[in-house]
Amino acid sequence: MKKDFYWGASTSAFQVEGGFGEGGKGVATTDVRHVPEGIADSKVASDHYHHLIEDIDLMTELGINLYRFSFNWTRVMGDGYQVNQEGIAFYNQLIDACLQRGITPFPTLYHFEMPQAFVEDFGGWQSRKCVDHFVHYAEVCFENFGDRVKLWGTINEQLIATAASDLNGNHETDSNQKMKQMYQMSYHMSLAEKKAIARFREIVKDGQIGPVCSMQVVYPETPAPNDILASKNAEDFLQNCFLDMSVFGRYPLSYQNYLREKGWYPETQSEDKAILCKNKPDFIGINYYASTCIRALHPDEDNSKLPPFYRNELFTLGNNDYLTKTKWMEFGIDPEGLYIGMRDIYERYGLPMMVTENGLAYSDILEDGQVHDEYRIDYLNQHILQCERFVAEGYPLLGYSPWSFLDLVSSHQGFHKRYGLIYVDRTDTNSKSCARIPKDSFYWYQDKIHKQS
Ligand code: BG6
Repeated sequence: MKKDFYWGASTSAFQVEGGFGEGGKGVATTDVRHVPEGIADSKVASDHYHHLIEDIDLMTELGINLYRFSFNWTRVMGDGYQVNQEGIAFYNQLIDACLQRGITPFPTLYHFEMPQAFVEDFGGWQSRKCVDHFVHYAEVCFENFGDRVKLWGTINEQLIATAASDLNGNHETDSNQKMKQMYQMSYHMSLAEKKAIARFREIVKDGQIGPVCSMQVVYPETPAPNDILASKNAEDFLQNCFLDMSVFGRYPLSYQNYLREKGWYPETQSEDKAILCKNKPDFIGINYYASTCIRALHPDEDNSKLPPFYRNELFTLGNNDYLTKTKWMEFGIDPEGLYIGMRDIYERYGLPMMVTENGLAYSDILEDGQVHDEYRIDYLNQHILQCERFVAEGYPLLGYSPWSFLDLVSSHQGFHKRYGLIYVDRTDTNSKSCARIPKDSFYWYQDKIHKQS
């Protein structure tokens, strides 16, 4: 890889920080969501809030030149309405410590959590008011950090952010109404992203900004034409609807038609179109864990138990027998999918990419003060090889930043499911001291980066 390639590591605020109620932090959706008994919530998480400098020193030891993290909306804005200076100071400390060590700070503005007050006051993203609040929050971040931070992510995984009720507070019980609201929320997020990019161009003139997608590498379960069509539909509903908006400012036609037919097409305003069509991002962030196998829905098949983005008549989740699956990697392990998916994204959007998440979940075991995670080394190695192949063929890839820098609370499955290069000594029910213990994968990645220079 070239000298300016970013070798990073990633986290997100609500999954690592902890510091619940400290430093003026307001209440987020992720602070009040229902967490089943015996599963860790995000109140302590990896206690990064109290281990900040220790963690950044570990980044130096690892040798990374980029740290992907996220601003916690409720640490920057308290309850959502007023700037929290203590939160600004916390992120200033983080950013400055990174820069002093030669690590490029790469924040995402919105990684799943948001002020709970917005959900209670006006329904969160269901309301157009949320667009203005997001843009204001983005401006606060650009103005406070944009002098030093030049690489920014907008929204992390809009697919999940709009579908997961416990992250966005949309607990509607009527299923038809819930679907309608999900598409409205997604539209508002797209509009908010574009308006934020417009402000970014004015405030951080020399910066780069882009969305972070949950990359969908969709394989049809069989070559039957209806499975092929289902897989094309899935691409439109799981990925193109977000990235086409981010880049071109429009939805795929089949998506538009279906939403209109169901009565789920979002409310828009005439002035939106001009905003959506401009303000193109500079790059696309790629989160990739596994490919997805898709098939046509059988007549009378009940898909109501699947996540909302699969609840339609156009496609459903299939099974790929060709991939190795594990307890936590239930879709299978598919390194080549990373290459396939990024190639498709480049051909559709023509933008550079950055791998912002990629990693293997495992219930690691700490033995004699060590974690021998050769399974994770193998996973990372296989995926990095696909990145190298991609770059060697001339495609533009800015960097590779695996998930996760250290063990953190899974988005919905607690601390038993670990992704980190560093073991955090705690369990789901006992946060202990959260001591940091580099795993074998940490030293492997350190060596990999070292060999680049
Ligand atoms: C991505 C998210 O969806 O996948 C992360 O951006 C998340 O926040 C990661 O942690 C892994 O998913 P999970 O559900 O295993 O934590």
